[in-house]
Amino acid sequence: MSEARERRDYTDGPLCLSGRNVTKVFGLGEKKTVAVDHVDFDFHEGEFVSIVGESGSGKTTLSKMLLGLLNSSEGEIFFEGKPRDISTGRRKREYWKGIQAIFQDPFSSFNVFHKIDSVLLDCINMRGGRSLSREKKIELMTEACSFVNLKFAELTNKYPFELSGGQMQRLMIARIFLLKPRILLADEPTSMVDACSRATILDMLLDLRDETGMTIIFITHDIGLAYYISDTVYIMEHGRFVESGRADTVILNPKAAYTKRLISDVPKIHEEWDLSTVDLKAE
Ligand SMILES: Nc1ncnc2c1ncn2[C@@H]1O[C@H](COP(=O)(O)OP(=O)(O)OP(=O)(O)O)[C@@H](O)[C@H]1O
Ligand SMILES: [Mg+2]
Repeated sequence: MSEARERRDYTDGPLCLSGRNVTKVFGLGEKKTVAVDHVDFDFHEGEFVSIVGESGSGKTTLSKMLLGLLNSSEGEIFFEGKPRDISTGRRKREYWKGIQAIFQDPFSSFNVFHKIDSVLLDCINMRGGRSLSREKKIELMTEACSFVNLKFAELTNKYPFELSGGQMQRLMIARIFLLKPRILLADEPTSMVDACSRATILDMLLDLRDETGMTIIFITHDIGLAYYISDTVYIMEHGRFVESGRADTVILNPKAAYTKRLISDVPKIHEEWDLSTVDLKAE
């Protein structure tokens, strides 16, 4: 099997986001669901991390806690080595300068009544560029669009519904390119686009990481995708991490029965992602 690409080891690098005992329980009594069950994680600066698990394993619940959209029931999250404090609206907004997200459905993140150029302009303003000249703002928006292979001139005056799903997802990446957060959380960002757009979007995320050094947390149910794209993987089953480590180590030499099962379910979608030769026999 061909190696998808070179991977760096980030374990000795500076920490970006970590968690200890992070837990989320929904409901009470018989209706109780432990969606995230005492997980520990260390995400490093510039690391491309995938969290992989089946539907209902707790990926989105964990993402929401990482984003500060949902309080944890137990445990603690650390941002750049310090306990994260998002106790007030102001602190939360400060935290959100450091972490941004893109979701499965890009249309859900956009105000349908806002034209696309105003969406990009907002990003420049949010990054302190309000007083820049009109020419400079257009230059920045043009650069962000060309990073994702879109033509800014063709987007001005358009509304989100006038773009395809793949174009919208690329626009989301252009937004992130302008906002330059320390961390990007991408929850199944390619599950609604065709295979061709998917490969393009994945490569753009890798370029984004290489160009800006941001940490990317990529959420997926597809272990083949995770193998292709990430440095590090965390395999999630029923709210727990059953296995984690370098993507090539974990996926080419899986230990947990659950990881083996995820690998055996991977369709042969791409030569480089072909995991059919991985030894899945019980140890
Ligand atoms: N607001 C909520 N109230 C009650 N239970 C919830 C809530 N949100 C999620 N859950 C439950 O928590 C568990 C984990 O859900 P979650 O959405 O995090 O899974 P997921 O891994 O993102 O799944 P998918 O791949 O389908 O997106 C599920 O059993 C779900 O039903
Ligand atoms: Mg989900």
